Amino acid sequence: MSRRRQLYEGKAKVLFEGPEPGTLIQYFKDDATAFNNRKHGIITGKGVLNNRISEYLMMRLTEIGVPTHFVRRLNMREQLIREVEIIPIEVIVRNFAAGSIVKRLGLREGDRLPRTILEYSFKSDELGDPMVSEEHVTAFGWASVQEMDDIISYALRINDFLSGLLLGVGLRLVDFKVEFGRLWEEEDVRIVLADEISPDSCRLWDTATGERLDKDRFRQDLGKVEEGYQEVARRLGILPEATPRDLAGSETLQ
Ligand code: TMP
Ligand code: ASP
Repeated sequence: MSRRRQLYEGKAKVLFEGPEPGTLIQYFKDDATAFNNRKHGIITGKGVLNNRISEYLMMRLTEIGVPTHFVRRLNMREQLIREVEIIPIEVIVRNFAAGSIVKRLGLREGDRLPRTILEYSFKSDELGDPMVSEEHVTAFGWASVQEMDDIISYALRINDFLSGLLLGVGLRLVDFKVEFGRLWEEEDVRIVLADEISPDSCRLWDTATGERLDKDRFRQDLGKVEEGYQEVARRLGILPEATPRDLAGSETLQ
């Protein structure tokens, strides 16, 4: 890791300078946080699994025409990505009632929502990622009206596609969070999917049993946290051929 210049360290990932201008290396850590950083932990092997899962899902999304920052996976914990200017909002897509919306609106957990609901949070650790409306996003210039149109249509396409893909392996996509960025290409700028899509950023429930197979196992102390992430990778057919020791430590193994 030390051979490259570190540009940014987040709660679950580190960004390094990439090999060419306009590229970055995204390194996936095992660190997990919840409740705006108040809860910390290590989920052994999470970085390796999220690197794989996010690679797989972003590649599938590219195939259906959703542009992403993903270029290729480099090794067990790193992927090459295109450098984008992150739009400072988290886009949350909800299909079923779970998490914060249950408390906020007094819903019954697990109920299907009347329709898919989009929410936005302003990315600010200091402020605890407050929920905002599309009005705030455009009024404060975090994204233009045209950019929000693209973001909303990509978010809904991602939702439809991933809901079907995951249903095919017995997983219900309850909700998820995505982030987008501006990709500058010569004179042109366009919106692309950025960050990651993994059990850190999705709620995934087993369709038959309702078992949680995502970061809620960590947030709610449900136990078998590593196993949840492994099960998602296994169902997607991408569990890396690695021993538990590799999952724990490896930085650069293929
Ligand atoms: P919430 O119900 O806690 O608002 O979370 C909605 C979805 O967004 C859920 O799939 C988890 C994901 N999420 C993140 O990826 N990062 C966050 O910081 C939060 C709060 C939620
Ligand atoms: N990752 C977020 C945090 O640390 C919250 C979450 O995913 O629940 O605060």
